[in-house]
Amino acid sequence: MRVGIIGCGNISDVYVRTGKLFNDIEIIACSDIIPAAAQRLAHKYSLREMNVGALLDADDIEIILNLTLPTAHAEVSRAAIAAGKHVYSEKPLATSLQDAIALIEEAEAKGLCVGSAPDTILGAGLQTAKALIDDGYVGQIITGLAAVMTKGMEHWHPNPEVFYQKGAGPVLDLGPYYVSALTALLGPVTEVRAMGQISPLERRYGAEGPNKGKTFSVGTFTTVNAILTFASRANVSFIASWDVWRHGVRPIELHGTLASIRVPDPDTFGGDVQLSANKRLLNIHDAKDVALLGTQIDWLIHKTGGKTFGGINYPIGNPVIANYRSLGLAEMANAIAEGRPHRCSGRFALHALAVMLGIIESAESGAPAQIGVPGVTLRALTDEEAKTLRSQSAAAPNRLKRSGLIGQPSCIDQEVRFIVGAHR
Ligand SMILES: NC(=O)c1ccc[n+]([C@@H]2O[C@H](COP(=O)([O-])OP(=O)(O)OC[C@H]3O[C@@H](n4cnc5c(N)ncnc54)[C@H](O)[C@@H]3O)[C@@H](O)[C@H]2O)c1
Repeated sequence: MRVGIIGCGNISDVYVRTGKLFNDIEIIACSDIIPAAAQRLAHKYSLREMNVGALLDADDIEIILNLTLPTAHAEVSRAAIAAGKHVYSEKPLATSLQDAIALIEEAEAKGLCVGSAPDTILGAGLQTAKALIDDGYVGQIITGLAAVMTKGMEHWHPNPEVFYQKGAGPVLDLGPYYVSALTALLGPVTEVRAMGQISPLERRYGAEGPNKGKTFSVGTFTTVNAILTFASRANVSFIASWDVWRHGVRPIELHGTLASIRVPDPDTFGGDVQLSANKRLLNIHDAKDVALLGTQIDWLIHKTGGKTFGGINYPIGNPVIANYRSLGLAEMANAIAEGRPHRCSGRFALHALAVMLGIIESAESGAPAQIGVPGVTLRALTDEEAKTLRSQSAAAPNRLKRSGLIGQPSCIDQEVRFIVGAHR
């Protein structure tokens, strides 16, 4: 399916480059409210440069790829739906539940698909962990810790201020990777409790540029400690902070009745999964088994580098991580052609958004927040299925164009109708 980009900033290059790896999408045009930004991208990758209105009206564009800033996501995605096009948006889906729900309702009314990042949940790292959990190797998950902790971005980002205001902060900016990974592995969240801090109240621009040395006010929590309670009854701690100099905490560790599992960084597509090498269930009433405890907790490493979307490929020239951005978009296009629901769906992202907004609400109020938006179970993406999404070479012809397979969209999972909850 032919794709047009709205928002030609930092992340747009990666989408255009990695978009060439997939069968079912062809990025052909781009636009931005800043014409020079669209001109740059169009010139670099031989795309058609258009203004936003013309791109929305273009008959040959079927999917809008929304790479604008979070505060513009809902408006741009709703404009795409109004123009009769499917839309795939960078995260978060929106910055309010009202906007996100309106977007999904409008799309459903028109039979159009909404997709949303992060698509790292379809990468080999997360999918390997999911297969181990789904196959019962971990048992019933009791507890765990997910953590994303850095010192923020004002020391390198030329325009950091927007990241420190309401609608952003570490929970909404980086939380989508972690919360989506947790709901992909554990299912829906029912309740969150959180505490937040702003430290300090002002930050200083550090990157070269006209603002270097000046300060700006911080308008949202920069550290949040949360506990997520899942429908499965697991309680998982989540720390999101831009106040941390250095740490040795893993991105995600989960502990079940049969084993513990280490999930790789959910901001990447690959990474190794580690599973504690429990050979059998311990019977704590048996002294012999208790004595074994100290000898049986090595980690078994499940490597993902040889899997379809696990190979290290980024940054180009000096690759250290797996980066297959556009995978969620390509899977959505494939789903439309095949007449099935897609995986990185608006509804899946809506639940993650409700969890993140619930975390902030709880930190502000001091009371637990109920998550009123039901979750959607993420269907596993097997390596066999992943292979069908990937073109065998960057020059491989677009399968849909070749076969004329573009079918009726049926991305709406009728089984999961959300009820507007407490956060609307
Ligand atoms: N930069 C990254 O490394 C990165 C990584 C993952 C995800 N993301 C996500 O990607 C999105 C974009 O991030 P970015 O870093 O590319 O930002 P950016 O500021 O570099 O680019 C955003 C672009 O969108 C344009 N834009 C804003 N509002 C618009 C509108 N209403 N209509 C048309 N164009 C509009 C801006 O002019 C700008 O060129 C964000 O949601 C971000 O969270 C970024």
